[in-house]
Amino acid sequence: MRIDVVTIFPDYLAPLELSLLGKARDAGIVDFHIHDLRSFTSNNHHAVDDTPYGGGAGMVMLPEIWGLALDPLMVEDTELIILTPAGERFDQRMAQRLSGSSHLVFACGRYEGIDDRVRQHYSTDRYSARKITVHEVSIGDYVLGGGEVASLVMIEAITRLLPGVLGNPDSLCEESHNESGYLEYPNFTKPAIWRDIAVPEILLSGNHAEIAKWRANMAKNRGNDNL
Ligand code: ADE
Repeated sequence: MRIDVVTIFPDYLAPLELSLLGKARDAGIVDFHIHDLRSFTSNNHHAVDDTPYGGGAGMVMLPEIWGLALDPLMVEDTELIILTPAGERFDQRMAQRLSGSSHLVFACGRYEGIDDRVRQHYSTDRYSARKITVHEVSIGDYVLGGGEVASLVMIEAITRLLPGVLGNPDSLCEESHNESGYLEYPNFTKPAIWRDIAVPEILLSGNHAEIAKWRANMAKNRGNDNL
């Protein structure tokens, strides 16, 4: 899979080099390309934004510069993901679907977002005929300073689903937020007693059917206490 990220803060994407993502890249499973949006500006101040038509607070990112950055990336079979708190909510199901893609492009907006004509332009028939699709995506109902952290969240959730990334693929079947929608059961390791707290007896019993039942029950009830 190839992943492109367009941002005015390329350094924000440094974690792509680390841990699981860095290993996936080293193994040739995923290929990251980070692009500095400002390098596409031709004005003296390298401005990427301007005041909104119709008035209002904040600044809007210029369509011209986004067009220059995105045009070369819009090859056949590409999913363009525009990060915005107003987008469709990202979840495990979307991660699963996007993990089947061959090319993802993340457009990280800042300020009040990207001029909507960028979304409109890449959503036209001219692009869909080349299997280029556009999605506005949010990682949750809160407002971040920009799409960079959101793109990191999505890239990590998607990349770990790619074949060969996890050492033990079984962990994909059992883990939290799996297809059944249940949160995973609580886990314990050695020692059997830590600070007077004992591991649940059943887990030491060797009775796998009962353990599975206990875990299913615990998983169902987990995460129900709201903040
Ligand atoms: N940009 C700002 N807030 C965001 C969010 N919650 N999700 C995606 N992109 C964003």
